[in-house]
Amino acid sequence: MAPGTEREQWGSKIGFILAAAGSAIGLGNIWKFPYVAGENGGAAFVLIYIFFVMVLGLPIMIAELVIGRHTEKDPVGAFKAIAGGTKWEFVGYLGVLTGFFILTFYNVVGGWTIGYIVKSVMGEVTAVHDTATAQRVFSEFSANPALMILYHFLFTATCMIIVVKGIRNGIERWSKVLMPLLFVILLILIGKGLSMEGGIAGLKFFLQPDFSKITMSSVISALGQSFFSLSLGMGAMITYGSYLSRQDKILHSALYIVFLDTFIAILAGLAIFPAVFAMNMSPGEGPGLIFHIIPVVFGNMSYGIVFAVLFFMLLFIAALTSAMSLLEVTVAYIIDEKGWSRRKAVCVFGTTIFILGIPAALSFGVMKNVTVFFGNNFFDFMDKLTSNYMLPVGGFFIAVCLGWKYGLENTIHELDPDTRIISLKELWAFTIKFVSPFLLLLMFIMLVKDDVAGILSGLTELLR
Ligand code: PFF
Repeated sequence: MAPGTEREQWGSKIGFILAAAGSAIGLGNIWKFPYVAGENGGAAFVLIYIFFVMVLGLPIMIAELVIGRHTEKDPVGAFKAIAGGTKWEFVGYLGVLTGFFILTFYNVVGGWTIGYIVKSVMGEVTAVHDTATAQRVFSEFSANPALMILYHFLFTATCMIIVVKGIRNGIERWSKVLMPLLFVILLILIGKGLSMEGGIAGLKFFLQPDFSKITMSSVISALGQSFFSLSLGMGAMITYGSYLSRQDKILHSALYIVFLDTFIAILAGLAIFPAVFAMNMSPGEGPGLIFHIIPVVFGNMSYGIVFAVLFFMLLFIAALTSAMSLLEVTVAYIIDEKGWSRRKAVCVFGTTIFILGIPAALSFGVMKNVTVFFGNNFFDFMDKLTSNYMLPVGGFFIAVCLGWKYGLENTIHELDPDTRIISLKELWAFTIKFVSPFLLLLMFIMLVKDDVAGILSGLTELLR
């Protein structure tokens, strides 16, 4: 940052909570959570997911906010500040790289939401009355290269325009308006889903656990999903924490953010699964799930067009507030460490993300059969690489660096000074130092074992 320029801060406590919740609540909750839960057996997956949110997500969320406010820096600057001159600096760089990778496929799905707003307004979404047509419409849409690149571009450009405006006038102002709106639209959708005939079977799938469906890879997906959904492991919360004032209470804020994020994911599940079952569809449809379901729900409903437009606007809003935080990580790094202006940083990196995202935009059409790694197209590969590997690995290093290298005694005073629940502070310290690193290491070993087994069986297939 240029000397003499003051670092921006959030305008209010609620503004911060909504912006951070806006980062957490995104496509991960509404698009991804239902389809990943659907692919992994429903309720049992949801319980494992909640377990990870509580024992890993919450403590690491607090750790990231603590590091951010303590150092008042972007992720790279933060690790330089707490472990300068050592190898630990790479944790910050890893975060910036992860954000970049996520944006390459995230903005593509963000583009889908714009496409579906347009389709809804034109009445094309509500012209769909059965699931086979909905599936065909989505696959034709996602296979159209020009349209995919156009929407990917529009989404990335919108995100860039908001991030250029900075913290208070951009991210905070938008989040304050958009987040409450999102909640209201979701409630309306749940009411509709639950009133559909056959919807109760969907509720059962989502709420009645069947642990026999759980495999090692579902446990790994639950872990990756918890990091992805809470925006953890890549320094997004370090960056947002760095704009916190000394008066803000980290423990309280983290509890709110984690609660809101989990609550919205559950609401999204409640909105989607009753409809899936009412229409005799498979819950394991993959990334197209909500685009296959929602049009049929609205297509068979009075005033469906209004609800369709609202729903895709909701998805767009959720995606935008999260993509803004992903971009902000890189932008903050370049501004803080390289002294660039905000405008230049946003222009250069926004454009780079647009270009790097093109293969993901084409992954459902012309590049469908271009496999990057054992059967995964570029889109799936980026998704798995970031959610399952990069974010949990980032979380592991954040916990170890704070707990063992820098020392909790240097940072624990960052937690709410007037809290009456002192034991919560100690519980956090214990978890960050011992529980989180151990559990994440264990999960990492399992993940590598699972993936190596998969690769070996893929190789055997190939050689046959
Ligand atoms: N949490 C966002 C979502 O659920 O859609 C995605 C995300 C944002 C992941 C920011 C990571 C991040 F740093």
